[in-house]
Amino acid sequence: MRARYLLLSFIACILAAGIFLAGCETLKVSKPILPMKEYERMIAGRLDANYVGTRNCLSACHVHDKIKQDFDASTMGVQLSKKSGMPLVDCESCHGPGSLAIEGLTPEKVEADAKAGKQTACDYKTLIDIKNLPAQAKSLICLKCHSANATFNLHNWNAGTHAVNDVACTDCHKLHGGPDLKVKPRDVGAMCEKCHQDIQAEFALPSHHPLPEKRVFCTDCHDPHGSQAEKLLRKPTVKATCTQCHPEKEGPFVFEHAELTEDCRTCHNPHGSVNNNLLKVQLPYLCLQCHEGHRANASTSVERKGAIYTRCTDCHSQIHGTDNPSFSGKGRFIQ
Ligand code: HEC
Ligand code: HEC
Ligand code: HEC
Ligand code: HEC
Ligand code: HEC
Ligand code: HEC
Ligand code: HEC
Ligand code: HEC
Ligand code: HEC
Repeated sequence: MRARYLLLSFIACILAAGIFLAGCETLKVSKPILPMKEYERMIAGRLDANYVGTRNCLSACHVHDKIKQDFDASTMGVQLSKKSGMPLVDCESCHGPGSLAIEGLTPEKVEADAKAGKQTACDYKTLIDIKNLPAQAKSLICLKCHSANATFNLHNWNAGTHAVNDVACTDCHKLHGGPDLKVKPRDVGAMCEKCHQDIQAEFALPSHHPLPEKRVFCTDCHDPHGSQAEKLLRKPTVKATCTQCHPEKEGPFVFEHAELTEDCRTCHNPHGSVNNNLLKVQLPYLCLQCHEGHRANASTSVERKGAIYTRCTDCHSQIHGTDNPSFSGKGRFIQ
């Protein structure tokens, strides 16, 4: 019986490890990076094709009406109006020159086909095959216009973890998902969790930042486009990340908890935890990692004998630091 139990748990462990590793593997696939000119070639389109303009591309074809309507209403689409004075963005900016695709297509042919009950497809194989490009080339289509100077949040894109790990702009930004290209905070969680399922699981733990409740967003703390800090954090340090919303923990205090609060991760998980207050380790064990327990009443000094192990913060309630001394005039985070 016992042997069988052991065998079963052994198999379970192997399976769990397998799933875990498979999860890692799918996130960390990075293909060798080619010289830039290779990517530039991939997004140039067919050299024997010419640019024909959106009007020519679309006047005959009603299949793309929805795409066109949405696009015209988007921030990129309004650039089509010459009056805007902005660089023009049209279908060919991303899909490449279209003359070959529409060769031989006339409104008459489209109408005749429609009468015969079929749709006329353009020869889209002559356009850039965006979907099958390597991630770097996909992003380069966007970076043609969204250079770091034009779009400030892309300053750190090239060195960012996402770019380095073959995540492309279009993995997150759906170009034809609707007229609004802006990513709204409430959609961000689902966007990120598509790939970061382990993080989604952390936010499902009993104590978590209210992200599923849509009061906190991944992008409050992270910049998916890259950053100067570790882990794509928007702020230079973890402490600065946390104290933008919890300023009362910032200090400086007259009595500090050594240097501990310099990195809130000493005691907290940022996303979620099985313990109250996002604590890494439950009380009192959190404190017992570094301190001994003791017995105390409000006026006497501490005694090791007969130590009581309850929530240390019932008495040491100002654990993040305080300006008030304790009874003995020391900084013991009592008040
Ligand atoms: C800013 C770049 C960009 C512009 C401008 C653009 N597209 Fe696209 N289009 C894409 C990308 C990227 C895809 C691939 C979508 C994906 O990865 O799922 C795509 C896919 C498509 C598809 C394939 C259908 C689909 O959803 O998979 C059609 C059709 C299309 N675009 C038509 C148009 C038309 C018509 C215009 C002009 C009104 C246009 N596109 C303008 C980037 C662009
Ligand atoms: C031909 C130039 C051009 C290309 C190529 C291009 N964009 Fe744009 N894009 C613009 C311009 C111009 C704007 C509007 C001005 C602005 O917000 O910067 C814009 C706006 C946007 C916005 C909305 C910004 C807002 O504040 O609403 C997003 C998101 C965006 N582009 C993403 C992309 C992605 C992703 C790609 C690649 C698939 C891409 N763009 C390719 C020129 C371009
Ligand atoms: C991992 C997902 C992800 C990737 C990859 C990504 N973006 Fe974004 N992008 C977002 C999110 C989320 C926002 C909205 C929050 C913000 O401003 O950071 C955004 C905002 C933007 C904006 C500003 C529009 C706005 O909402 O104000 C532009 C422009 C943009 N991205 C372009 C790009 C381009 C170009 C690339 C590729 C070089 C890219 N993004 C790659 C997720 C992503
Ligand atoms: C298309 C898949 C994909 C999407 C969508 C995505 N990521 Fe990532 N992310 C990755 C990959 C791949 C890595 C690098 C591998 C790793 O570290 O596990 C990564 C790494 C990260 C890291 C760790 C950085 C580091 O230095 O260790 C953070 C933080 C992160 N992503 C945040 C986000 C946020 C926030 C969003 C949503 C705006 C998002 N990701 C959306 C694929 C994705
Ligand atoms: C309250 C701020 C905050 C929010 C909100 C937040 N994160 Fe984080 N995240 C952090 C901090 C801080 C770290 C660094 C943790 C560490 O080093 O142990 C981190 C680390 C990560 C990592 C790297 C994990 C690793 O083990 O290397 C990923 C991936 C990530 N976050 C993704 C996300 C995603 C996806 C979301 C939204 C669903 C999100 N984060 C929301 C603060 C936040
Ligand atoms: C964008 C704002 C924001 C940022 C940044 C932020 N928090 Fe929070 N934090 C919140 C909100 C909102 C709550 C929920 C408060 C409530 O429910 O009353 C919360 C709650 C908490 C809690 C209590 C959780 C519980 O279970 O009651 C802890 C601990 C915490 N945050 C620590 C941190 C740490 C550590 C960081 C940095 C990694 C951080 N916070 C960054 C907004 C933020
Ligand atoms: C030495 C361990 C430790 C460090 C370091 C630490 N905390 Fe805490 N934190 C705790 C404990 C323990 C609690 C629970 C308090 C209780 O039980 O009353 C807590 C609770 C919190 C809470 C929720 C309750 C409240 O008081 O609002 C927030 C928010 C918080 N911490 C933020 C932070 C931030 C931000 C940092 C970094 C600047 C940080 N903590 C560093 C131990 C720590
Ligand atoms: C990572 C180790 C670590 C953890 C975890 C930790 N502390 Fe500390 N604590 C320290 C250090 C280091 C000092 C400074 C010691 C000194 O100055 O002699 C300190 C100082 C103190 C002091 C003041 C001691 C004195 O002699 O003035 C008290 C009280 C205290 N901690 C209580 C707690 C409580 C309660 C917890 C749990 C919520 C906790 N600590 C968690 C490392 C830790
Ligand atoms: C019943 C209230 C109470 C509880 C519960 C409590 N403490 Fe204390 N603690 C005190 C008092 C009172 C002092 C002495 C304050 C003074 O000197 O002014 C003290 C002092 C300390 C000191 C500094 C003196 C020393 O021992 O070197 C540390 C460290 C400490 N406590 C850690 C803890 C830890 C860890 C826990 C949880 C296991 C805990 N305390 C639980 C009330 C308490």
